[in-house]
Amino acid sequence: MRELSLHILDIVNNSIKADSTLIEIGIEEDDKINKLTIIIKDNGKGMDDELLKKVNDPFTTSRTTRTVGLGIPLFKNAALLCGGSFDIKSKPDVGTIVTASFVLNHIDRQPLGDMSSTLLTMITANSDIVFVYHHVVNGKGFILNTQQIKERLGNVPITTPEVVLWLKDYIQEGLTNII
Ligand SMILES: Nc1ncnc2c1ncn2[C@@H]1O[C@H](COP(=O)(O)OP(=O)(O)OP(=O)(O)O)[C@@H](O)[C@H]1O
Ligand SMILES: [Mg+2]
Repeated sequence: MRELSLHILDIVNNSIKADSTLIEIGIEEDDKINKLTIIIKDNGKGMDDELLKKVNDPFTTSRTTRTVGLGIPLFKNAALLCGGSFDIKSKPDVGTIVTASFVLNHIDRQPLGDMSSTLLTMITANSDIVFVYHHVVNGKGFILNTQQIKERLGNVPITTPEVVLWLKDYIQEGLTNII
């Protein structure tokens, strides 16, 4: 995988498959402590301890057929290769929190990539799910909450072409302002 935004998309897809209605994505970049942190939190069906163990270390299984995929291990690997850390917390029927951190200027750190397109895709393809996106760069932040946007839109669907175009500009402008 070339970009962190694609890992984020993968992890968010797990949250979507877990029937989440609220997905929160947090990204914090801080030059002073040379750290990039990505947090993805959902209120989906969660995982029990047994599944959580398997997911954290898919290669310990002796099975020949894979019961869990590689989305999480790949993201974990990307973080650990960059002197970072990785953590998943999950509770059945409560939800899941995935946290990955990276040494910001590590030579192997993948670039964040096109977060505005990634976000737009997630939001418009899953218009029933509330997304909260919080991105902070050296103390300057951008927040997007699709619940608030939907409330302002009233009966107009968030997938209306004009709204999607507006949303695209809004996200791009928001991210340009903090970077
Ligand atoms: N947010 C989540 N909520 C509930 N279960 C989850 C969540 N994330 C992962 N899981 C469980 O962990 C498993 C492994 O996830 P992972 O992303 O590593 O692989 P996958 O989604 O099965 O396959 P893929 O390689 O396509 O991503 C999932 O199949 C799912 O059972
Ligand atoms: Mg997955």
